[in-house]
Amino acid sequence: MIPITVVDVADAEPYVLEVLRSGVIAQGPMVKRFEDAFAEVAGVEHAVAVNSGTTALVASIEVLDLQPGDEVITSPFTFVATLNAILEAGASVRFADIRTEDFNIDPDAVAAAVGPRTKVLMPVHLYGQMADMTKLMPLAEQHGLAVVEDAAQAVGATLDGKAAGSYGLGCFSLYATKNITTAEGGVITTSDAALADRLRVLRNQGMRARYQYEMAGHNYRLTDLHAAVGIPQLEKLAQITEARQRNAEVLGKGLAGLPGLELPAVLPGRTHVWHQYTVRVTEDAPITREEFSAKLLEKGIGNGIYYPKVVFDYDCYRDNPKVIASDVPVATQVASQVLSLPVHPKLTETELETIVDGIREVLGA
Ligand SMILES: Cc1ncc(COP(=O)(O)O)c(C=O)c1O
Repeated sequence: MIPITVVDVADAEPYVLEVLRSGVIAQGPMVKRFEDAFAEVAGVEHAVAVNSGTTALVASIEVLDLQPGDEVITSPFTFVATLNAILEAGASVRFADIRTEDFNIDPDAVAAAVGPRTKVLMPVHLYGQMADMTKLMPLAEQHGLAVVEDAAQAVGATLDGKAAGSYGLGCFSLYATKNITTAEGGVITTSDAALADRLRVLRNQGMRARYQYEMAGHNYRLTDLHAAVGIPQLEKLAQITEARQRNAEVLGKGLAGLPGLELPAVLPGRTHVWHQYTVRVTEDAPITREEFSAKLLEKGIGNGIYYPKVVFDYDCYRDNPKVIASDVPVATQVASQVLSLPVHPKLTETELETIVDGIREVLGA
């Protein structure tokens, strides 16, 4: 089976050993080293490492000091962590529909969704391509909204030469299958020194110096052991991204023009870091998305559906007054069409050929 993702952290061994031998295994100098390298990647002054992408989102909302009833606008087409983090931070959430071109939040839908309680705009840079920040940032400014980027899937992505995580408070995930991983982990990026300072205090039980509490905080600390896993990957992020981009190009060429298969596009001004290579299986295809997925698996081609439904369309959110459901026809349709194919850096030429040939065969081309 050609897996949809491969985790390769073998080169972390010397860094992990260094930590083990040092005896400083919780948050220490390796976390600092990781943060400094990450800040450079995101083109910001400060990176604050935390223990997951989810807690990065929670902390980022919490430092904005929202009042009960204040709302965050986000994408309905995202991983559930986006929604859960907003709820964990005590805010209400409203959804603005997406565009098919990039699977990201539609600025026009955001403009229509903004209301008197809206305080935060949280675009999600899905699959590794940034949302339309060129339009979203002026909108946020016009309405006085804070911007928190869910950049969990978009480390290294850019728009007009400016990196994901440098537009608002940037929230990244370092989960095992992400482009850069520490097994579990997260990072918040910002060039606002005061916010970075508050985030550092918040992640450490609200404690600036020992037993001096400034706020009700959390234990959101990353460990040096985890940071050590990520450091060599950050050092070779350019190669990791280039390999994903090369693979996406091969898939794009090999799969062009097939009936019922819409390929992902890189929109002008953007660099895509291809966390996922996601196609849409439309009604013009000879088979359904589910049949397509099953046939690829039969041929040994791993694939995944990210995500099968819009994020709020589950019973557990139905009666939650903080989850303000709305009609999101584009996201609803897209969720029934998407299928992600392997694009990870470990793919060989032969595997790429197998994927292309297999898909052409399944679609009868
Ligand atoms: C879009 C999105 N947001 C948030 C998260 C949460 O990150 P984590 O799993 O590190 O908590 C993820 C990753 O899983 C994600 O894909």
